[in-house]
Amino acid sequence: MTPDNDFARLADFDSMKSELTRIRHHLHANPELSFEEAETARFVAEKLEAWGYEVTRNVGGHGVVARLTVGAGTKSIAIRADMDALPIEEQTNQPYASKFTGKMHACGHDGHTTVLLGAAEYLARTRRFSGTVNLIFQPAEEAGGWSGAQAMIADGLFERFPFDAIFGLHNHPGAPEGTWLMRSGPLMAAADTVEIKVHGKGGHASRPHLTIDPVVIACNIVVALQSVVSRNIDPTQTAVVTVGAIHGGEVANVIPESARLLITVRSFDPKIRDLLEARITKLASAVADGFGAKTDINYTRGNPVVVNSETETEFARTVAEELVGADKVSICPLIPGSEDFSHFLQHKPGSFLRLGNGVNSPILHSDKYDFADESLTVGAAMWARLTERYLA
Ligand code: NI
Repeated sequence: MTPDNDFARLADFDSMKSELTRIRHHLHANPELSFEEAETARFVAEKLEAWGYEVTRNVGGHGVVARLTVGAGTKSIAIRADMDALPIEEQTNQPYASKFTGKMHACGHDGHTTVLLGAAEYLARTRRFSGTVNLIFQPAEEAGGWSGAQAMIADGLFERFPFDAIFGLHNHPGAPEGTWLMRSGPLMAAADTVEIKVHGKGGHASRPHLTIDPVVIACNIVVALQSVVSRNIDPTQTAVVTVGAIHGGEVANVIPESARLLITVRSFDPKIRDLLEARITKLASAVADGFGAKTDINYTRGNPVVVNSETETEFARTVAEELVGADKVSICPLIPGSEDFSHFLQHKPGSFLRLGNGVNSPILHSDKYDFADESLTVGAAMWARLTERYLA
């Protein structure tokens, strides 16, 4: 066993604090939306090249992968940071607030990118590991649908930059700066949407017997869907089915031809996700069929569940406890938001960690949100020590 002081400590990053803060403020002032991260990618790639990484640009769009092999070790680790901002008008009044109208780093991806750059500089300078580290700077996390993680995977991420396990982090408003929240197994929800069109037969409101009324059918579907979670999901598990929109008809004296429902579905378990899709689809079409109507059901899968592997999560927990002390590492509650890091975890073992952003931090995607600079060196030290321990 290598003595503990051979691995990165928080104190090793004290001298980097002002530089990391400067980098974070630069990125914060210059936000770029999903698929537009050209300048952020260039900024990141130039630094990584200067530090001696083998840098590949334009992986799945504006993605950047920096690779560094030290020693003869055969293990390989990947760490991912997301780079994109959101279409929000910033209201923080910070001197480093966004220079661009309607664009803002309201999810802290400026901090995630800075943290990984901090670790990158340290690892290239100290080179106290044996194996290969892959630093993945990902675009378009916020895109929904076809997002940056999927684009990088489709562009050969796993084949071109092989690695054994992957780690990532998101800042966590509500937890103290510099603390860690971790969870084995499901952490963040799968987010799916469903559009159901009910095709009936329109006619005069006074002669309903000559019609197939899609409004009545749509209402019956809404009621039937209330049984999906309550009658099909194990009560120790959780899921959400919300009908967020119901549209049909324009006036009082006409039965319309069709009606339309829009539904949000959230789940924390891939099997439950499959069950929800099967039940919603079957129930809606069966209800409509019972009334003599037809349905078009468009079930769109968004990000899958973030499922952290146990070995990698417990490894990260050990490293974090060594770094900041066990009192600053806790079990993360389930988070109903979604995250496209889940796509990596469908193929590779790994863990998505949460880094405290302050108990008084505005929530994510708020126009007053700001990444906590106090967490920058803790994040960078964590990625550095995790890499050194993984590739020891
Ligand atoms: Ni985010």
